[in-house]
Amino acid sequence: MKIFNFGSLNLDKVYSVKDFVKSGETVAVTDFQTFPGGKGLNQSVAAARAGGEVYHVGCIGSDGLFLKEYLEENNVNCDFVKTVDGASGHAIIQLNQKGQNCILVYAGANFRLEKEQIDGAFEKMSEGDIVLLQNEINSVEYILTKGREKGARIVMNPSPVTDALFKYPFHSVNVFILNETEAFALSGLSDAKEALDRLCSLYPEAEFVLTLGEKGCVYKYKDTEMKFGIFKTETVDTTGAGDTFCGYYLSCTAKGMNPKEACVYASAAAAIAVSIKGAGSSIPDMKTVEAFLQRER
Ligand code: RIB
Repeated sequence: MKIFNFGSLNLDKVYSVKDFVKSGETVAVTDFQTFPGGKGLNQSVAAARAGGEVYHVGCIGSDGLFLKEYLEENNVNCDFVKTVDGASGHAIIQLNQKGQNCILVYAGANFRLEKEQIDGAFEKMSEGDIVLLQNEINSVEYILTKGREKGARIVMNPSPVTDALFKYPFHSVNVFILNETEAFALSGLSDAKEALDRLCSLYPEAEFVLTLGEKGCVYKYKDTEMKFGIFKTETVDTTGAGDTFCGYYLSCTAKGMNPKEACVYASAAAAIAVSIKGAGSSIPDMKTVEAFLQRER
């Protein structure tokens, strides 16, 4: 089962600070580094490191060639990654001493996907293959519609929340992987359980995996509901932890794991990712996750 990830590629400019900058304040930075990132790239890397056959579909500018190289180094097929005029997408990330982040995202080339490029990827796809999407590229609606026509299994990570998100035809989504912020926005409710129940009744044919940060995650599909805790590791940088979870969950289920096993593997991978700085570069491979689980179980 192939995974086609229609997703963003960003240069993550990470500024380490004592505390996040407040309105009207100027803050000195203690460290600065650039990492490969973008929700799309992170999820492709995670899915591939978990053993999936991944095709990335997206756009970069000439300043982002290393992002494509990074995907290729991680065994992600880049036949559908296009270099366009203008700048790549980038993120300005404040990383505080607790490992928490604040992120500003500039879409850049991520909003330059064209129909021909998307259609090319769909030609390569077979019925039953997976379409993975986040909300950091253009043409999300078109891809959802094409995915449904193709008979693909559509996995949606509705992140980040933007006005456009509320217009997408989500009835074609098979699996939602989302966090509390996204669940609150899509349901209009502010309690996690109520939000999940509301989403399940809005999209009764979809499976939901709701991540709750320190509180773990919940899987819900029709009458089946399962809760999982987290694996505790030192928090160095939480950037990309959700993406690691998402890519791992997806790849593990594509390889035949049930949702319970996939949630355990995804939680372990995310726990390892938060203990390492950077987004795309903090994602562990399957061997590391398995060794971690052997120690922790
Ligand atoms: O989810 C983390 C990602 O969000 C970062 O890598 C950044 O690029 C933004 O897209």
